[in-house]
Amino acid sequence: MTDETTRQWRLASRPTGEPTEENFELVTVERPSPDAGEVLFRTLYLSVDPYMRGRMRDADSYAEPWAVGDPMQAGVVGEVIESRHDDFDAGDVVTGNGLWAEHAVVDGSELRAVDPDLAPVSTALGVLGMPGVTAFFGMADVAEPVPGDTVVVSAAAGAVGSVAGQIASLAGARVVGIAGSDRKCSWLTDDLGFDAAVNYKDTENMHAALSNACPEGVDVYFDNVGGPITDAVWQLLNVGARVAVCGQISLYNATEQPTGPRKLGQLVQKRARVQGFLVGDYENRWGEALTRLGGFIQSGDLGYSESVVDGFENAPDAFLGLFDGENIGKQLVKVGDRRHD
Ligand SMILES: NC(=O)c1ccc[n+]([C@@H]2O[C@H](COP(=O)([O-])OP(=O)(O)OC[C@H]3O[C@@H](n4cnc5c(N)ncnc54)[C@H](OP(=O)(O)O)[C@@H]3O)[C@@H](O)[C@H]2O)c1
Repeated sequence: MTDETTRQWRLASRPTGEPTEENFELVTVERPSPDAGEVLFRTLYLSVDPYMRGRMRDADSYAEPWAVGDPMQAGVVGEVIESRHDDFDAGDVVTGNGLWAEHAVVDGSELRAVDPDLAPVSTALGVLGMPGVTAFFGMADVAEPVPGDTVVVSAAAGAVGSVAGQIASLAGARVVGIAGSDRKCSWLTDDLGFDAAVNYKDTENMHAALSNACPEGVDVYFDNVGGPITDAVWQLLNVGARVAVCGQISLYNATEQPTGPRKLGQLVQKRARVQGFLVGDYENRWGEALTRLGGFIQSGDLGYSESVVDGFENAPDAFLGLFDGENIGKQLVKVGDRRHD
């Protein structure tokens, strides 16, 4: 490859059920040049996220479907190579929506500067980025735990769940995480201060395991997964419970969506409130969340973890691993090192 080319991952085909490597295609293309107002950067880290599964599907969603044959979008952290925007210079580290690409050109007004002295730059895609902001507002604004509440978080050892649980702890709640391995559960209780954790992959009776972990029932459920895990939590909701629906990853690869009211009767009996939310609705309050999350990290009240897959060519693997629970904390792809320090 010459200096004038770059590599991109494109959507090769739409998956049916679980995506495979066949759905992705690695291509070499001419490296783009910035026009007035634009910035060319080298990707340092690329974020892979569960919502991308929805963009592989040709169906209405909150994020537009990707077209087959087009490069796919992603949150990225990059180092500026050439800037034609007044706010950025070569060598600056930036974050924003880029591409699954080694280089990209983005309108400078859509980028945010990242201060490498404040925290590792990769955190701009995790605890100090979209997942952290999702956890912060989903818990503080939608679920609203109060001291003494029992809060349950599913996919608790993931990027959003791990932060959401700690935000609830900081609000004075008792926090129970649900995750897919003993290692993840130990991380939650030993390192992040969760009060209990349930390994759903090693539990035959989720209702019994959760009843045991939540002897006083569930006041808040932060739902990242849906499906049978959520059914089990709903059975334990207390009167006046709040359910914040953040995601439903257990259903993203389903070829047929389950239908029917299932557990809605629980809401009548418990006078519970269920509310979905999207981090995009908090665009104007992003800075507020980052200030609070940054403060919690500096005071030692917020722990985080990153699972980093090395090498741009491994990006599809990193994405597919999300559905097998391979990540602890935020899943990232490391594409390159900084050249300017
Ligand atoms: N509403 C919003 O604005 C918003 C924004 C960001 C993310 N989200 C949603 O939040 C959720 C978490 O996202 P994230 O980025 O933090 O991902 P993540 O939790 O870091 O990674 C996904 C995790 O989900 C778990 N998982 C995968 N398949 C599962 C299944 N069938 N049943 C139960 N658990 C399963 C795995 O952990 P285990 O080992 O524990 O199974 C995996 O590590 C997703 O549903 C995502 O779509 C919503």
